[in-house]
Amino acid sequence: MSVLGSSLLEKIESRHARTGVVGLGYVGLPLAVELAKAGFHTTGIDLDQRKIDAIMAGRSYIPDVPTAEVQALRTSGKLNATTDFSVVKELDTINICVPTPLRKTKDPDMTFILAAVAEIKKYIHPGQLVILESTTYPGTTDELVLPALEEAGMKVGQDFFLAFSPERIDPGNKQYQTRNIPKVVGGVTAQCTQVAKALYEQSIDTVVPVSSTRVAEMVKLLENTFRSVNIGLVN
Ligand SMILES: NC(=O)c1ccc[n+]([C@@H]2O[C@H](COP(=O)([O-])OP(=O)(O)OC[C@H]3O[C@@H](n4cnc5c(N)ncnc54)[C@H](O)[C@@H]3O)[C@@H](O)[C@H]2O)c1
Repeated sequence: MSVLGSSLLEKIESRHARTGVVGLGYVGLPLAVELAKAGFHTTGIDLDQRKIDAIMAGRSYIPDVPTAEVQALRTSGKLNATTDFSVVKELDTINICVPTPLRKTKDPDMTFILAAVAEIKKYIHPGQLVILESTTYPGTTDELVLPALEEAGMKVGQDFFLAFSPERIDPGNKQYQTRNIPKVVGGVTAQCTQVAKALYEQSIDTVVPVSSTRVAEMVKLLENTFRSVNIGLVN
């Protein structure tokens, strides 16, 4: 493990790391709340000022997240939200949870991921962990996110850490929510997997490391395909 990796791991395990979540929708807000509940000082970033205002006022707009939880985390100072990406300078970890809607041609629209990564790149610093959670095709993290972040002049696995972890949230499900849905995580390097796994282990019951970002991306694609086939069959 590089010196920066060991130091980040130590901050994560002692819950002193400053965590950030980009995109505060159905996926991002529950994740930000779980991280803050685990004791991390957490900052949410979103372009939608109404969501930022709601969080700052201690109000939830996602049915699975009780307003009382957001309010308590605001009172304790564990949860903040902003539209200003320059806060990335102060963060140790960043989870990207922006939309990837299908285009007319049925391929995912990557513009939200690219826009978020372009902003993060401006403020990324050594010792930071970036995890993509948006649903996407196998290869996205390696082929799109990695080259963009490396333009900042740092080496992955040494200076900064990058992983993919598919989101499997099932909105409205009373039994399975962010905390108890097993989280699959695959890093660009073994060290990336190790630090990303450590982060999730602080706030999620079961973490399943896999050998690469592509495997983690493929897991999600396979699960969505399985569900789609079953829905088609029932219909
Ligand atoms: N909702 C689900 O049930 C679910 C389940 C599994 C996976 N996913 C995947 O997770 C990802 C997020 O989905 P969601 O349902 O949370 O979407 P959402 O639309 O509820 O939330 C996305 C948020 O990202 C914000 N955003 C967009 N571009 C941004 C940018 N450049 N910078 C900062 N914020 C930005 C939007 O304002 C919005 O608040 C998608 O890839 C989706 O496919 C969703």
